[in-house]
Amino acid sequence: MTNERIQSKEGSSRYIALVTIIAALGGLLFGYDTAVIAGAIGFLQSHFQLDAAMKGWAASSALLGCVVGVSFAGLFSDRLGRKATLVLSGLLFLVSAVGTALPNQFSLFVIFRMLGGIGVGVASMASPMYIAEITPAGIRGRMVSVNQFAIVTGILIIYFVNYFIAFQGDEAWNVATGWRWMFASGAIPSAIFLALLLFVPESPRWLVEKGQTEKAKGILTKVGGISFAESEVRSIEASLGQEVESLGQLFKTGWRKVMFLGIALAILQQVTGINVFMYYAPEIFKKLGSGASAALLETIVVGVVNLSFTIIAIRTVDQLGRKPLMIIGAAGMCVSLVAMGLAAQFQVISIWVLICILAYIACFALSVGPVTWVILSEIYPTRIRGRALSVATFFLWSANFVVSQTFPMMDENASLVAQFNHGFPFYVYAAFCIILVLTIWKFFPETKGHSLEEIERFWDIPSSDSK
Ligand code: BGC
Repeated sequence: MTNERIQSKEGSSRYIALVTIIAALGGLLFGYDTAVIAGAIGFLQSHFQLDAAMKGWAASSALLGCVVGVSFAGLFSDRLGRKATLVLSGLLFLVSAVGTALPNQFSLFVIFRMLGGIGVGVASMASPMYIAEITPAGIRGRMVSVNQFAIVTGILIIYFVNYFIAFQGDEAWNVATGWRWMFASGAIPSAIFLALLLFVPESPRWLVEKGQTEKAKGILTKVGGISFAESEVRSIEASLGQEVESLGQLFKTGWRKVMFLGIALAILQQVTGINVFMYYAPEIFKKLGSGASAALLETIVVGVVNLSFTIIAIRTVDQLGRKPLMIIGAAGMCVSLVAMGLAAQFQVISIWVLICILAYIACFALSVGPVTWVILSEIYPTRIRGRALSVATFFLWSANFVVSQTFPMMDENASLVAQFNHGFPFYVYAAFCIILVLTIWKFFPETKGHSLEEIERFWDIPSSDSK
């Protein structure tokens, strides 16, 4: 009996791990596709003879695609299912990888880059949502964090791939052909993702919502055994009421509070500055006096630190809880940013700035990076989760777009430089870290160990609104 139980437990955790890893490949492609530009941008600029504004557009067009992608991903996933949404993102990645590698006109390149961005937008909400919906409460934080691990792994892999491709030829070869291989390389993980998706089931929560209870029960039995499946189905059914139809309705009903909190969290993850370092790290290092290849190496170090500390977050999020991790991590980011600002302002030797950047990345990877996605994927009730998560992710990508656009403007503004050297933007991001700490501390419940249906009840929704 004991043996049997152990075996079925082992079987189910293997099943959950397998399904989670496949879904998290959406996150890997998210990291891969957003970071590919870092290595290619210089060659693209020479190939298409881009001025500064067009160079910016080459980088930010994908982010605009992300905003578009999340705008319809929620509706799509609520109507057609979580699995179909993951397949859609895989197809978009594949088309974009091939499409960005071939064109001889810049406008065509941008169109395919935006398509890839749409894929990132879709995957950025569909992967964590799917994982949260298929895993039991006790390990849900860890499993959703696997998605963040996949994002940073994708970033690190493409840093290496770009580095490897760039070394296959001289500058002229890279300008003519090298950048094409960088983008085309994305076809391999996209095809693997699509093929593996054949093996994952539909989300049981979505199936119950669509009346396919028996099918859902079968999947949940594989996840946690028969009695787990029965109690989960009962609990999901109890939490389902009438569908909330329009987005406007989400903000008018008792869900308004959780809607605004999700949006605030999504925006705060971005305005605390992470992607300034993800997208501009080589530029920052070059400004601090590093040569081109040293800058590339330092960027890889950033990727390695990001990955290593994400592993710690995965191991601790279900024990320590979401709130302590977020508060400690965001406070650490704040201290690192202030130190970075002071070091830049008073022109302290560059090694200190590097140390501050690595400390900041470590704190982010430990907390705000993964835990934001964990919280966003678990705070909404099932029947609005798709659309609500889509709204939050829309604001996340919009904030990312604004931060990526405004960093160079703040960094190069003459009067700000006269007063603060290059320290000003870091102080701005530090101020947002304080707001993040206060928001988490005051407004968010601890969701560690609770089922999605229990979390739903935290919000104290009047029954007329929840039905
Ligand atoms: C963020 C991304 C960021 C990545 C870096 C994610 O949690 O949403 O915007 O690029 O972390 O590790």
